[in-house]
Amino acid sequence: MVAGTAYPRRGRWRRAWAAIDERLGISGLAYPVPAHANSVGYILGGISFFGFLILAATGVWLAQFYHPTPEAARESVIYVMNAAPLGDVARGIHFWTANLVMATVLLHMGRIYLTGAYKRPREVNWLIGLGLLAITMGLIFTGTVLKWDQEGFEALGHNVEIGNLIGVFGFWFSPTFGASLPIVGRLYIAHVVILPALGTFLLIAHFLLVKRHGISALPAEFDAALDGGPEPSKGGSTFTAHLVRMAGFGLMIVGATALLSLFVSPPLGPSPNPSIEVSKPWWMFLPFYPFEDWFGLPALLWAPGLLIGTLALVPFVDRSRYRSPGRRRAFIVTGAIVVVALILLVAYALVTPPKSHVAM
Ligand code: HEM
Repeated sequence: MVAGTAYPRRGRWRRAWAAIDERLGISGLAYPVPAHANSVGYILGGISFFGFLILAATGVWLAQFYHPTPEAARESVIYVMNAAPLGDVARGIHFWTANLVMATVLLHMGRIYLTGAYKRPREVNWLIGLGLLAITMGLIFTGTVLKWDQEGFEALGHNVEIGNLIGVFGFWFSPTFGASLPIVGRLYIAHVVILPALGTFLLIAHFLLVKRHGISALPAEFDAALDGGPEPSKGGSTFTAHLVRMAGFGLMIVGATALLSLFVSPPLGPSPNPSIEVSKPWWMFLPFYPFEDWFGLPALLWAPGLLIGTLALVPFVDRSRYRSPGRRRAFIVTGAIVVVALILLVAYALVTPPKSHVAM
């Protein structure tokens, strides 16, 4: 014990903290949140958010070396993989985190469905979440095109066809709109500016509503209160403890994806050959691939549209006030059937040989 130094120093730290807190109000973040907010099921949204932060940081690094023109894009990815400082590991973390975030967003949505957390007053936040889901998929889609290999080129072919299907509103997707910039340049702008900006806007709205409503109570406790039991507890932990836990998960993602990228590099296919169509999309798009096989390209519009439209209706159709799965059997069974159907569609897409859909 160094007499006379430890306590004054602690005092100095305390005074410095008080001065910072007086100006920034950081201790205001230590408001109570229910203890179950820290359980894995209830922190999946936070894990997704930290995943986005990792994607942004590694994306900024990759952008220092990437060249968004058809002539140079693929070569610049090869440069990132072989020569750019930390390029290979940044690309690996970016790629694996994108996959992981997609999975955690879907699981987050599954938890909300299972616990009926989309019910009053959270209907609008469910709809905002669907917007976030679409943006996540848009980011992955545009990212695939950017590497400008065979897979990216074929994804672009679908992008152009979707533009044709939308008709007059599809002008943005057309290579002839803004002929001064090749379409890969515009998709790059969508990937690094338009979609992140829209996503940030929706995330702010999503978080403000989570703060406004508080995290939903455990379904059993909520239903018990409806039946005259005690009100569910609104405390047990603090938001700062919740943030620290999210950050812990974030660090685990960085560690796990960095390690993974040392063993499994993200793929880069051959230079595009415009006269063939041999690729299949990433796993999150695979449920729609069989529809494209069966019904042609228009299915790429109506199949996801039907799914998102049906999901958007869920809070307005499931009108009972109860949230426990046991008291919402019809919705739980329907949800389970949809999940099994999606998995079967993915399996079917994986085993069928690739088909040509886009007029080459
Ligand atoms: C980009 C993806 C998303 C992020 C970063 C995100 C983030 C979050 C966070 C941090 C929370 C607080 C509780 C938790 O972590 O579970 C939350 C709650 C919520 N999210 Fe998301 N979310 C995303 C996508 C979605 C999707 C796809 C949906 C549904 C379609 C959705 C609907 C909701 C609802 C209804 C709540 C309130 C849940 C409750 O109070 O229990 N979110 N979100």
